Amino acid sequence: MNVTIDRKILSRPASGPTEETVLAVTHYTDFLFSFRLSRPAGFRFRSGEFVMLGLEVDGKPLMRAYSIASPNWDEELEFFSIKVPDGPLTSRLQGVKPGDKVLLGRKPVGTLVLDALKPGKNLYLFSTGTGFAPFASVIRDPETYDKFERVIVTHTCREAAELDYSKWTVGKMMEHEFLGELADGKLYYFESVTREPYFRNGRITTFIENGTLFETLGLPPLDAEGDRAMICGSTAMIRDVRALLVTAGLTEGSNAMPAEFVVEKAFVG
Ligand code: A2P
Repeated sequence: MNVTIDRKILSRPASGPTEETVLAVTHYTDFLFSFRLSRPAGFRFRSGEFVMLGLEVDGKPLMRAYSIASPNWDEELEFFSIKVPDGPLTSRLQGVKPGDKVLLGRKPVGTLVLDALKPGKNLYLFSTGTGFAPFASVIRDPETYDKFERVIVTHTCREAAELDYSKWTVGKMMEHEFLGELADGKLYYFESVTREPYFRNGRITTFIENGTLFETLGLPPLDAEGDRAMICGSTAMIRDVRALLVTAGLTEGSNAMPAEFVVEKAFVG
């Protein structure tokens, strides 16, 4: 009997990263880009989770946590990253081209998942900067529209160009034959900019506090009965949005104990 042995597979420990191929790269600004990778067979995740990702540097894997921006049904994996000029990983990762290899961890995890929320009517997804990445996954998952009547995704950035990825993602999904129909009339996109003129200027916390968010969407103020939320951004943003949700009577949940909202810090990349 002739048995062919794949030496590459044998030489890699089963718990270590797999080597995936870069399929596409899009640069949005000097600081932001997204890329798509091949998805290994058997790589399962829940929309909203993150995974370790990186490159081999000096013969060793250099890995960071990255939210998976694609939904769990996608044949490819999408990631959204900042470019830190002297960042050990992102300074290198920003240079990847289609055909290059990237290391991918085997175990996606995270709290920004539908399973960690109790059933509700409206799902608010509050993000700043690269914190939009897990929500790019959640808003493209049909299960989200099965579970919620309305899905409100907010994205606030310093400059307008940083909104390109969320705008593009939302626009593209509304054109998608199946997803577009599911999300039609259910998905609301509320974007704002804080450090240059834009049609809507201000932090999301301000728009929650002064009611602009709810007036714009034609929705009642936050309430624990029907509203559920996920928060992803900087430590300060999470702290302040969390405080507003707690004031509205919502409690924080987790995979082990689903409740009214869940939180995860946006990864630096
Ligand atoms: P601002 O420009 O007013 O600081 P960062 O790059 O610092 O993470 O910021 C991304 C976006 O998040 C910016 O628009 C920033 O607004 C906003 N932001 C920063 N801190 C908070 C906070 N504590 N609450 C709400 N939004 C915040």
